[in-house]
Amino acid sequence: MTLILPLQQNFSLKALNTFGIDASAKLYLQVVNVDQLRAVFADPQLAAMPRLVLGGGSNLLLTGDFSGLVLHICLEGRELLPGDADHHHVRAAAGENWHEFVQWTLAQGVGGLENLSLIPGTVGAAPIQNVGAYGAETKDVFLSLTAFDPASGETVEMDAAACRFAYRDSVFKHEGRELIIVDVRFALPRAWQPNLRYAELANAVAEQGLSAPTPQQVADTVIAIRRRKLPDPAQIGNAGSFFKNPVVSAEHCARLLQQFPSLVHHAQADGSQKLAAGWLIDQCGWKGRSLGAAGVYPKQALVLVNNGGASGADVQRLAAAIQADVAARYGVRLEPEPVFV
Ligand code: EPU
Repeated sequence: MTLILPLQQNFSLKALNTFGIDASAKLYLQVVNVDQLRAVFADPQLAAMPRLVLGGGSNLLLTGDFSGLVLHICLEGRELLPGDADHHHVRAAAGENWHEFVQWTLAQGVGGLENLSLIPGTVGAAPIQNVGAYGAETKDVFLSLTAFDPASGETVEMDAAACRFAYRDSVFKHEGRELIIVDVRFALPRAWQPNLRYAELANAVAEQGLSAPTPQQVADTVIAIRRRKLPDPAQIGNAGSFFKNPVVSAEHCARLLQQFPSLVHHAQADGSQKLAAGWLIDQCGWKGRSLGAAGVYPKQALVLVNNGGASGADVQRLAAAIQADVAARYGVRLEPEPVFV
């Protein structure tokens, strides 16, 4: 079988990355079925090119033009599966918009994803960095996924253990065998209970006088909080949290607390402490400041923004200046969350 691939040359990626960085790809393919992936990897020339697998482009910093092949995953489809005695099972293709998928599950009367409302990006990207917000993480509701393995040209099924989920991390972020996620399944409890572990969310629900909120009411509350604190990428280019919240040893945290009593920290199961990167950056005086066309969002110091016309290099320069200040003051190394290409 020969498949003609609708490849496009010198394709602008500006509308395909939420930072709004003006960069282009040498070759671009909108992937609408798995046969196209097979055809790409059966072609020795295409298979040998540098590759960027692109979803919603919301966790990406383009540092220049990309001299390779962009595989833009636009696989569509979502459905409610039979499930089991305790769980609803839902599946969605990797190219589905995450937020629309979450809202669709709620419209089907299935709760469990509401805390993850309004996260930008696609369904296929969610397992890669184990997206999380407001006390919930992808791994908590994940059932399994299907990935395309370029090495064999076949698809493989992976369960949660195979994905090796951790905080904003999974097997897909590490070197080794390349896998392209094509389809994801979630298991959502039939006996739904609101997850109000995150204090800010619990308070916002209580303030509305909701003693027994519905999944949709929790979703609406999360959406309102996010709209208040995070910039809409359609208005102001950004990639969500630019740094991960750093984890330090209990000793390091105790030393910092002596000097900085208001340090925001959360104990982890293994005894280490997770610090709020937004607080560290804010305390260093970066909130609302800019360096060239790149800036720190005035309402959330963890979000770097494109004030208009910023290049990837502008954002990198700002990120490096912030990292240097936080390291000098707190002895903590901030690790970027987006992928640099
Ligand atoms: N803080 C400040 N100044 C700031 C920002 C935050 O002092 O400018 C303090 C806050 O007062 C709070 C603490 O830092 O005590 C934590 O802030 P927040 O609740 O806003 O959450 P975060 O740790 O900054 C994380 C995720 C977000 C997620 C929220 C809510 C990471 C890297 N970020 O942010 O995820 O939406 O919690 O769960 O884990 C993303 O990953 O792109 C993202 C937006």
